[in-house]
Amino acid sequence: MEQIAYVNGSFVPMSEAKVSILDRGFLFADGIYEVSAVLDGKLIDNASHLARLERSVGEISLALPETIERIQEIQRELIARNNLASGLVYLEVTRGADKGRDFAFPKGVKPTLVMFTSVKDIVNAPSAKTGIGVITVPDIRWTRRDIKSVALLAQVLAKQAAAEAGAGEAWMIEDGKVTEGGSSSAFILTQDDVIVTRQNSSAILPGCTRKAVVALAEERQLALTGGIDRKLMAIRFQALMVATSMVRLTVSSSENCLRTSS
Ligand SMILES: Cc1ncc(COP(=O)(O)O)c(C=O)c1O
Repeated sequence: MEQIAYVNGSFVPMSEAKVSILDRGFLFADGIYEVSAVLDGKLIDNASHLARLERSVGEISLALPETIERIQEIQRELIARNNLASGLVYLEVTRGADKGRDFAFPKGVKPTLVMFTSVKDIVNAPSAKTGIGVITVPDIRWTRRDIKSVALLAQVLAKQAAAEAGAGEAWMIEDGKVTEGGSSSAFILTQDDVIVTRQNSSAILPGCTRKAVVALAEERQLALTGGIDRKLMAIRFQALMVATSMVRLTVSSSENCLRTSS
C-alpha cells in the first residue's frame, strides 16, 4: 500500500504529494522542520519537538498555518493511516510559494505545511547494537544552529564525509571543540562517570533526545559538564554517544570509534 502524506490540508498518496517550484523552502531553504520518533505507534518526546517547532518558527517570524493541537492531530492521523508502529514522522513548514523569487518575506502568502512518515526499526537498528564510527569535520554552518532550519547543506557534506570514511556520524569542530553531530547531539562518558556534552546555546540545536539524556543523567546523579575537545577525545573514555530522534541513542564503547580527523 502506498504511503500517505499530508500536504497543506489534504492527506494524499506519496506520489501525489507535491509543492510548487516557487516554494521558498525549495528556493531559499526558508523553512523549519521537525522529526519525531514513533515507537509502538506512539510519538516519542513529541511535546519537546512541538515546543522547539514553535520556538524555531518564532525566531524566523514564520506563522504556523495550523495550531500546535491540529499539527499533533495530523501527526497522529498520519501514523494511523500509514499503520506505523515504529519509525519517524517528518514535518516541514515553509514560508510558502509567492509569484516570483523575492528575498524579502512575501505578503499574503500561506505557509506550506507537509508531513510524511517513514518506517524504521529504531529499537533493533544494527547501529544501536554494534555502535558506530565517528569522524570529525570543521563546523562550517551559520551561527543560529538553535533554529531547526531546513538549510542542511553543511550537514549533508559532513555526513557524506562520514559515509565515505565508513563512519556513522561526523562530529563538527569549532574553535577546537565539538559542537554536535551532523544530525545528533554529542556526548562522551568519561572513565570517572562524567557526561561531557556541549551546553545549549545558539552554537547547537537543543536536541530533544539530548534533553531526555540530560534528565536521565541528573536522575542518576551523574556529573555533567560542557566541552568535548580533542584532548578528551584522545584519552580513554567509557563511551561515546550520539543522541537523535532518528536512532534514539547510539553508544560506541571504545576510543576506536573515532576514525579520521580533519
Ligand atoms: C544538528 C543536530 N543536532 C542534534 C540533533 C538531535 O536532535 P533530536 O534529538 O531533537 O532529534 C539533530 C537531529 O536532527 C540535528 O540535526
